[in-house]
Amino acid sequence: MGNSSDQVLVLDDVSRRFRTGSETVGVLEGLTLSLERGQRLAIMGASGSGKTTLLHLAAGMDRPDSGRVALAGRDLANLPEPDITQLRARHVGLVFQDFNLLDSLSVRENIELPLWLNGLKIDRDRLDALVGLLGIERLMARLPESLSGGEKQRVAIARALIHQPDLLLADEPTGSLDQTTAETVLELFDRVARETGATLLMVTHNREAADLCERTLHLRHGVLHPD
Ligand SMILES: Nc1ncnc2c1ncn2[C@@H]1O[C@H](COP(=O)(O)OP(=O)(O)OP(=O)(O)O)[C@@H](O)[C@H]1O
Ligand SMILES: [Mg+2]
Repeated sequence: MGNSSDQVLVLDDVSRRFRTGSETVGVLEGLTLSLERGQRLAIMGASGSGKTTLLHLAAGMDRPDSGRVALAGRDLANLPEPDITQLRARHVGLVFQDFNLLDSLSVRENIELPLWLNGLKIDRDRLDALVGLLGIERLMARLPESLSGGEKQRVAIARALIHQPDLLLADEPTGSLDQTTAETVLELFDRVARETGATLLMVTHNREAADLCERTLHLRHGVLHPD
């Protein structure tokens, strides 16, 4: 294991339980994970095993009941909410399972949002290249509600990559895509990771997506197991 400053993401003995009615269910139970800069990790696991829960914790969008989460070298437990939001905006690109596009913004505005949040200038060439690769040029003026599932997913992927994040968190990013488009997206992730040295944490049921990563772990009974 390298220097702690190389660790883009650390989950240390993390537990997360949810209460439904009178029952408390432990979804993550002492899960430990550490990702160094440039690493690529695929996580597989049955529906309901806690994959999305794990990603939400990693992005600081949810807090663990116990254990420690550190993002970009900062322990999230001691950080106020606005600082976590800023840290996430700066360092993380997120492809949500349900896309999370903002309905009142156009496709273009959704994609440019991470740049606004970070006060970054729009690099037209980069934007055009990304949008072209994803085949969403003609959707730019539309509102998300008018898009198909696969179109939304591609817009979400553009938004996750536009600000060249250190850490890309992707929740079944090819789940709504046909084979050819899925391959394009995986090539894009591969290229971006190589070019920018980004770290990739991807939840997937897709073998080809997992093969893009040097490591695959299985989430089962609240902890990660080797392949
Ligand atoms: N806010 C919540 N309140 C109560 N239960 C929750 C909450 N969030 C998640 N759960 C439960 O935790 C478990 C894990 O959910 P999670 O969404 O992490 O699963 P997943 O592995 O991503 O599944 P899928 O492959 O279907 O997306 C599920 O049983 C879910 O019902
Ligand atoms: Mg999920």
